Amino acid sequence: MEKEFEGKYALVTGGAGGIGFAAARELARRGLSGVILADMNAEAAEKSAAELEAATGCKCWGRYVDVSSPESIEELFAFAAATMPGLHILVNCAGVCPVTPVEELDAAKWDWCMNINLRGAHLCVREAIKPMKAQHWGRIINIASLAARIGGIASSVSYAASKGGLLAATKSYAKVLAKDGINVNAVCPGVVRTAMTANTAYTCDGIPMGRLGETDDIAGVIAFLASEDSRYITGCGIDVNGGQYMS
Ligand SMILES: NC(=O)c1ccc[n+]([C@@H]2O[C@H](COP(=O)([O-])OP(=O)(O)OC[C@H]3O[C@@H](n4cnc5c(N)ncnc54)[C@H](O)[C@@H]3O)[C@@H](O)[C@H]2O)c1
Repeated sequence: MEKEFEGKYALVTGGAGGIGFAAARELARRGLSGVILADMNAEAAEKSAAELEAATGCKCWGRYVDVSSPESIEELFAFAAATMPGLHILVNCAGVCPVTPVEELDAAKWDWCMNINLRGAHLCVREAIKPMKAQHWGRIINIASLAARIGGIASSVSYAASKGGLLAATKSYAKVLAKDGINVNAVCPGVVRTAMTANTAYTCDGIPMGRLGETDDIAGVIAFLASEDSRYITGCGIDVNGGQYMS
């Protein structure tokens, strides 16, 4: 396969497993030079990084971050600047999916979800655009959700609101960063089989393709949005859900 991402460096939050790791693996398979897998689960991130580097030759670092902490995000991007010669691709994938009933969704629970899923993604964008502007090239891919389109299925109101906010923010970033050569898009996965959905009762009802999503179904779309082929696409939310919702 052509090494289309050779010379490119990426940072994936929530990269220890699930969709984030699958995205990093797909980019690495296509020749990516280096990637930081940043996750609150530092041990899993380091293990995944070692496995990915051994399998693909892409230079990989596993790194702790808590995206709800502005200081932790600053530390992560300082590490990225000190370690990689550039930052070309940011995948904002770290996320939580609470199922708190609306009556129990108090201020603290609301803020917890927002600070990870929405504010965390924003603060990562804010850091990532510094090197991207200097390079006049960047790709930012925000992992939103089908919940941003239709409200959550089993997830709480705060989850749908955080992902809806991320989708709206994606359009705003796209507008203001286009002049800097930075494309910002979102992916809205339907139900994907990961740790996040492992102990839930999602079924294939209402999915025309008759199956739940796999991480590689999402990873290929993320890689497309990170590639040169997406050069004239910005501010989009791509639905990847087996036909469950068509925008
Ligand atoms: N699985 C699905 O059905 C589905 C559907 C739509 C959207 N998504 C979104 O995809 C993204 C990835 O989810 P996944 O399905 O791969 O689940 P996952 O649980 O495997 O991945 C989420 C990752 O985020 C990390 N994380 C959680 N809080 C964090 C924090 N504060 N700081 C840093 N890292 C943190 C977790 O440790 C985990 O590795 C999430 O944003 C999720 O909302 C998932």
